[in-house]
Amino acid sequence: MKLSGNTILITGGTSGIGLELAKKLLQKGNKVIVTGRSDSKIAAAKKLLPDLQVIKNDIGQASEIENLVNTVKKDFPDLNILINNAGIMQELNLHDESLTDNQLVGELHTNLLGPIRLSHRLIPHLKQKSESAIVNVSSGLAFVPLPISPVYSATKAGLNSFTRSLRAQLKTTSIRVFELAPPATATPLLADANEMDMKGISVMSVEALVDAALKGMENDVYEIRPGQSNQLKWMNRIAPEFIFSQLSRTLDRILPPAKSK
Ligand SMILES: NC(=O)c1ccc[n+]([C@@H]2O[C@H](COP(=O)([O-])OP(=O)(O)OC[C@H]3O[C@@H](n4cnc5c(N)ncnc54)[C@H](OP(=O)(O)O)[C@@H]3O)[C@@H](O)[C@H]2O)c1
Repeated sequence: MKLSGNTILITGGTSGIGLELAKKLLQKGNKVIVTGRSDSKIAAAKKLLPDLQVIKNDIGQASEIENLVNTVKKDFPDLNILINNAGIMQELNLHDESLTDNQLVGELHTNLLGPIRLSHRLIPHLKQKSESAIVNVSSGLAFVPLPISPVYSATKAGLNSFTRSLRAQLKTTSIRVFELAPPATATPLLADANEMDMKGISVMSVEALVDAALKGMENDVYEIRPGQSNQLKWMNRIAPEFIFSQLSRTLDRILPPAKSK
């Protein structure tokens, strides 16, 4: 698809992958609107990229999605590309009885329910454009779960499944449906990652990741799996138990000692 002259909404575009996408898409001659929750990140993004349009918004709240849809349709009627990028990732020890409901399922609201709700609400608008797209940012962990981040992995597998169904349902419309499944990428999301857990994982630069994403979109590659994401997808077909055991190794750090049977 053509990546110039578009009007593009990127959720969670004030940091990491979303911010780099915004930068490169502005350079290619698009109008770019980004969202995020934090005032300071919004201000920093605007300072870095003065042409950027910014909207404070929490994609994890259904009522805020309604506000976002209304604002975007009113202020940016030319909008023709939605990039569902906002995401959070946490480690969760399911043995921890003190976890609150929000700690347990908070990732679902941002990573899965947000993209589902926003895509659904914008389909009527996007269908009216001669060329339009929805891009869902999942993860290599959509193909093989990382058990130390069980809910995050479930949200990304869910987003992969939803994206495939969405693509099938929109096949007779002007809306192309892409999935970008990044591998481990050097952004603030990974800043707190445990050093031992990252052993053997090659971390991609955010610039290389975004170059691969844009090249994929330009060539109508509908499931874009840069670097180790592609390996995870194929390893899950060839040797599923082996690759799952590899990704389960990090659990040794948090699990209680095994009880003898
Ligand atoms: N980095 C990786 O290794 C990696 C690998 C695979 C997939 N991904 C996926 O790539 C996407 C971008 O991640 P990143 O690495 O660029 O992370 P990041 O640097 O932490 O950026 C996340 C962005 O999302 C925003 N955000 C978080 N929760 C939000 C919410 N409820 N509503 C609106 N905005 C929200 C953040 O701003 P505020 O905090 O101000 O809201 C920020 O702008 C995520 O979906 C992530 O799961 C990343």
